[in-house]
Amino acid sequence: MNRNRNVNKANGHHHHHNQKGAPGAGGGAQKPSELRGKNAPAYIEKDTLLGRNENVLVEKMIAGGGFGQVYRARNLDTQEEVAVKVERASTNDSQRMILESKVLDDMLGTKHFPIVYYIGPHSTYNYIVMQMLGKNLGDIRKLMPSKRISITSTVRIGIQIVEALSLLHTKGWLHRDLKPTNCCLGLDEKRKTVYLVDFGMSRKFRNDDGSIRESRHYCGFRGTTRYCSYRMHDRREQGPVDDLWCLYYSMAELIEGFLPWRDMESVDEMAQTKKILKHEMIFPSMPSRFASFDRNLRRLKQTSTPDYVKFQSILASCVKYVDDNAEFEWDVLEV
Ligand SMILES: Nc1ncnc2c1ncn2[C@@H]1O[C@H](COP(=O)(O)OP(=O)(O)OP(=O)(O)O)[C@@H](O)[C@H]1O
Ligand SMILES: [Mg+2]
Repeated sequence: MNRNRNVNKANGHHHHHNQKGAPGAGGGAQKPSELRGKNAPAYIEKDTLLGRNENVLVEKMIAGGGFGQVYRARNLDTQEEVAVKVERASTNDSQRMILESKVLDDMLGTKHFPIVYYIGPHSTYNYIVMQMLGKNLGDIRKLMPSKRISITSTVRIGIQIVEALSLLHTKGWLHRDLKPTNCCLGLDEKRKTVYLVDFGMSRKFRNDDGSIRESRHYCGFRGTTRYCSYRMHDRREQGPVDDLWCLYYSMAELIEGFLPWRDMESVDEMAQTKKILKHEMIFPSMPSRFASFDRNLRRLKQTSTPDYVKFQSILASCVKYVDDNAEFEWDVLEV
């Protein structure tokens, strides 16, 4: 079984990618027909003009994600750098892009979400032109000499992500694939702000009148095995609580450098470990005060509205002082 499994929204088929980069590890071997991920050729050529008035010039591919590709581009009218996320329109995955643009559109103007400028088709691709962001937290961690991020920085980031999730959940959306690589820092004056990206697995959990959608008994797997809640291992309907579990495990990886199940081959063993493992085994470096984060999560039901402020104050209680104006260590080290 693939530990890093993250599953397609549109048709439920598995998409494998391998975060360690070893060929074939974790069931992630590329079939010759699989033109996605890092081995896929560029979907869009350099110097292509995109956007409403063909004023967005594609410059360079900066990420080849599991499904999409992200490019650095430039708005020729304003000279502003922008990001373009591109996905093939011809496959079943095309629904992801539509979903993603809906979520970003709903979140437009709120902190922690990249601004969308334009959504459009280009030959056999769909693309989104959006605010250019900085590095994702997974890459930042790996660039650090210790392969970890400090507790003070992770606490600051965690508090921001709880805020981001509360905004997202208030609009009725679940992310369902929160993980370090789906959280980016902003650029320049936004370098201390965390942004959520990658809404291809999102789902509306509220109806338009604000009531909670009826939950299904058994759901297809959505998310990434390493970070998902034990509830998702049991294929339960996800709720706001499951995004917070993903945050919890993501923070553990950032602070400790790894999760206890990194070498587990069996998904069932991983699920069992998540159910029973004590907080101090996941977060040996964190003060014991942090145990109430885990305790409070375990009390929440799928339909519960989490007390976001409480989770933020538990995080804040683990450091002396939360200084939102301090530089992050990677900006000082310039990694
Ligand atoms: N607006 C942006 N600005 C800069 N970088 C971005 C932006 N959006 C995404 N990225 C980078 O590109 C990477 C891939 O993007 P994203 O996660 O949206 O694609 P994906 O194909 O759905 O990914 P995967 O399936 O691998 O999770 C992200 O991890 C992030 O580092
Ligand atoms: Mg991603």
